[in-house]
Amino acid sequence: MNPPLSREACAARDAADPLAPLRAQFSLPPGVIYLDGNSLGVLPARAASRVQQVITEEWGRGLIRSWNDAGWIDLPRRVGDKIARLVGARPGEVVVADSTSVNLYKVLSAALRIAGSRTGPTPRRVVVSERSNFPTDLYIAESLVEQQGMRLELLDIDDIPARLREDVAVLMLTQVNYRTGRMADMADLSARAHAVGALAVWDLAHSAGAVPVDLNGAGADFAVGCGYKYLNGGPGAPAFCWVHARHVESFRQPLSGWMGHAAPFVFQPGYEPAPGIARYLCGTPPVLGIAALECGVDTVLAAEALGGMPALRAKSVELTELFIQLVRERLGASGLRPFGPSHAGQRGSQVSLAVPVDGSIDGYALMQALIERGVIGDYRAGDGSAAHPHLLRFGFTPLYLRYVDVFDAVQVLAELLESGAWREPRFARKAAVT
Ligand SMILES: Cc1ncc(COP(=O)(O)O)c(C=O)c1O
Repeated sequence: MNPPLSREACAARDAADPLAPLRAQFSLPPGVIYLDGNSLGVLPARAASRVQQVITEEWGRGLIRSWNDAGWIDLPRRVGDKIARLVGARPGEVVVADSTSVNLYKVLSAALRIAGSRTGPTPRRVVVSERSNFPTDLYIAESLVEQQGMRLELLDIDDIPARLREDVAVLMLTQVNYRTGRMADMADLSARAHAVGALAVWDLAHSAGAVPVDLNGAGADFAVGCGYKYLNGGPGAPAFCWVHARHVESFRQPLSGWMGHAAPFVFQPGYEPAPGIARYLCGTPPVLGIAALECGVDTVLAAEALGGMPALRAKSVELTELFIQLVRERLGASGLRPFGPSHAGQRGSQVSLAVPVDGSIDGYALMQALIERGVIGDYRAGDGSAAHPHLLRFGFTPLYLRYVDVFDAVQVLAELLESGAWREPRFARKAAVT
């Protein structure tokens, strides 16, 4: 058996890590080990001064002239082009707008319109998705299928390929599952959807900036993604959307606002969609939010000089593998167990630990105690069963995490479990106010 991993061994890996300089791009609070970049990314050091500059110079002095002079009007496409480099899209294929939820409404609606217009012996009336997809995705799909007299069918991810038949209009999936961290095979599932005449819509919330994504290579049809997670764009950062070139001149999205019009400043009656991806815009772009998002996207693009997404992915895999190994070595007796793919190739940049089904550990209280000690992850309740357990969720962002951070986080977790300090009443969830 290998000797247990030491902190010194982790420090040696940090010393040899070619991506280590990227950490200096962030304002990390002292004393914090941040394992929640899958929920809200860290503040880029440049963001505060850049947003300040947009406020005081571009807005304060430039006023309305800045729509042109400071290039505000081009921001959705300019920052979209930067994101395109991270998701296997070409320049002009991605636009920044709205929230992930709103963008999903737009792309799913466009996909349903295209799929619904395809003629065949079987009407296409079904949207297929994963049972444990993120709730907002399913809520949006529920609304759209109801409007269109269609049906949403939810399955376990392994049962999806067999369900793809001629009655399916759209396969809608999140590439990396928010609970388990399991990464779906985008190329394989998109091809299976196409084989039955359906379209594939992907949510990249937990993959853009976290794992290499190749939308064009995978032959996906539509995609949306989130700005405030691995892209470090700040709370409520605008999201993005992408459409494959084969649909770009034909698709219609339902939120026909003036910024998606072919000639927004002509003020003519009648909506005429802009050519290309710009038709995904609806209202006026949130300039301050996109300025902050651009700083976040730049922190990921800075890795291009050091090997880019493949290098980030390699480190992310090492971090998640290290965490799992340490959890097994140090916490095995506690009953906490890694939940999700055991094979690193199927894992996104996060690891969840399932709380024992016997209720011996209150996962919520344990996470609160961890956070108080400076290790920030999050807690996602399940139904408490073995199949859908309560989870402690940890994201591993290779841009700013060190190997010693992983070691220290597991050390704090081990100490809390040993001392039982998490049982102090102040960590318990307060009863919901009804
Ligand atoms: C998979 C997924 N999609 C969408 C969202 C939320 O998107 P938004 O708040 O931008 O609408 C989240 C948030 O955690 C998510 O995990």
